[in-house]
Amino acid sequence: MIKKMKTIFVRNYEEMSEKGYEIIKDVIETKEQPVISMTTGGSPRGLFTLLVEGVNNGLDISNTVMMNLDEYIGPKNAVYTVNTFMYENFYNKINTQPKEIFLINGEADNKEEEINRYKEVLNAYPRDVQVLGLGTNGHIGANEPGTPFDSTIFLAEHDDSTIESTMREYNIERDEAPTEMITLGFTEILEAEKVILLVSGKRKSEAVKNLLEGEVSTDCPATALRDKDNVIVIIDEEAASLLDEKTKNRGK
Ligand code: F6R
Repeated sequence: MIKKMKTIFVRNYEEMSEKGYEIIKDVIETKEQPVISMTTGGSPRGLFTLLVEGVNNGLDISNTVMMNLDEYIGPKNAVYTVNTFMYENFYNKINTQPKEIFLINGEADNKEEEINRYKEVLNAYPRDVQVLGLGTNGHIGANEPGTPFDSTIFLAEHDDSTIESTMREYNIERDEAPTEMITLGFTEILEAEKVILLVSGKRKSEAVKNLLEGEVSTDCPATALRDKDNVIVIIDEEAASLLDEKTKNRGK
């Protein structure tokens, strides 16, 4: 049988967030020590809202280990950092904390050492779930077009379109926007037992078309996930709007 990622087509952002939440909730409720690696940005905001509600209404995360996919290079408390996002959208809002929280330090002087420190975290805690968003240029984490599919955690430079997305998401000017990130590579991303890619909105529609119907190529980094059966892509109607009907029917 050909190995292939699973696609789930949903109506809108809310349904995408709910589907993502259902999968994570199930893992948290069934694994002895769940290890969840999250992403940040617009795509997972709704999922975080549901997770906060869940935890504050009894979803037990006292044995859960939480970590993140990446971190911008810049001051820890800048508006755009993964650190700031995670505290504002999750850790400061929940009434019980996870067993462990791991974050990449984007202000570490020695990036090499920081990468090696996080490699040890990744080795110690194999992920049950890795949540991802999709860049308008098809990037995954900060694996930008041209990144080899066997990448491992590295210091990445952002493409212009990514810098513009960060400016848009965090309402900042170009000279304030980060240009680099430490990111997990495809190797560590795909090591997770389940990889959930959340995709919503018209501006993702071209990337979605390339992901599902284009050539598997480093020109569209997300195609690295195409033939992986641990990957679940949750796509809303606007993001799916450029797809051929037969592609959408495959997801049903
Ligand atoms: C952020 C990250 C990025 C985003 C992607 C989509 O931690 O890793 O790859 O997931 O740029 O961003 P949004 O969800 O804001 O559209």
